[in-house]
Amino acid sequence: MKNNHFFDRDIVTIKDFSRADLEFVFDATDKVSSLKPKERGQLASARTLGYIFYEPSTRTRMSFEAAMASIGGSSLGIFDPRYSSIEKGETLYDTIRTMDLYSDILVLRHQMDGSSRYAAEISTHPVLNGGSGSEEHPTQAMLDLYTMKKEKKNIDGLKICILGDLKYGRTVYSLLYGLVHYNVEIYLVSPPSLRIRQESIYGLTEKLKISELTELDDELLSKIDVLYVTRIQRERFPDIQEYEKVKGAYIIDSNVLNRLKSDTSIMHPMPRIDEISKNIDLTKNAIYFKQVAYGKELRAALLALVLNESGL
Ligand code: CP
Repeated sequence: MKNNHFFDRDIVTIKDFSRADLEFVFDATDKVSSLKPKERGQLASARTLGYIFYEPSTRTRMSFEAAMASIGGSSLGIFDPRYSSIEKGETLYDTIRTMDLYSDILVLRHQMDGSSRYAAEISTHPVLNGGSGSEEHPTQAMLDLYTMKKEKKNIDGLKICILGDLKYGRTVYSLLYGLVHYNVEIYLVSPPSLRIRQESIYGLTEKLKISELTELDDELLSKIDVLYVTRIQRERFPDIQEYEKVKGAYIIDSNVLNRLKSDTSIMHPMPRIDEISKNIDLTKNAIYFKQVAYGKELRAALLALVLNESGL
């Protein structure tokens, strides 16, 4: 692969990447998935991924770790700050400086917006944003877009409904910033109190056809190609009583499924709480576990691209 723009680069925001860059990662993901284990296992041999997770994670951390192992590298890190010197009061600055000494590439998840940008300024090695506050989760958006491309064949032309907690859900923002490169129609559905933050999508409405709604009505359900469901982010509510008012606002169950087109794909960045009924899981519409699997492949490609100037 030529012109690897990802080599030695921080991935702090998806806004830094063009459509050509995204398509480059998707092609690299297809390539890494097609490699034989021996060949794949040489892409990061003797390289180390360092991760620091100030917030809980299942998929992001494990998929990065699994991805790194699959390309021949190793991982070390902090997945529970209570069992690190963060618990003793060590600063983010010193924690990043220390991890930078032990690793070749770093993944950070932190509750503060701007945390990954700050880490990138400190670290001598590339920093990948594994989720920064309510701001961004760029590698999640890359894998979401890759999933749409794989499952729907083409992102252009899709009618996409993004549902749930649009105020605090960081994956939503990164996804919208990535979708600006495609010709899509977006329907944002949320309770009024969890509407998208207007200041965070300033300028996007000129590039994307966006409609804001509060109901999953029949007209909407019968036309969308992708239903991207998100969790109400309980931990980000300043007042738990406000969470209680909106929890369970939307449940995707067989009643909703029957009102969708037969080929509508249901996605979710996960974790899911109660917003998609378990009996949807075995339907052909449910692609959220495929999305989880694509996460490992896309992150393997991304790690290989950032670590190797010659790419894949
Ligand atoms: N999608 C996602 O970020 O999942 P985790 O919180 O489990 O990492």
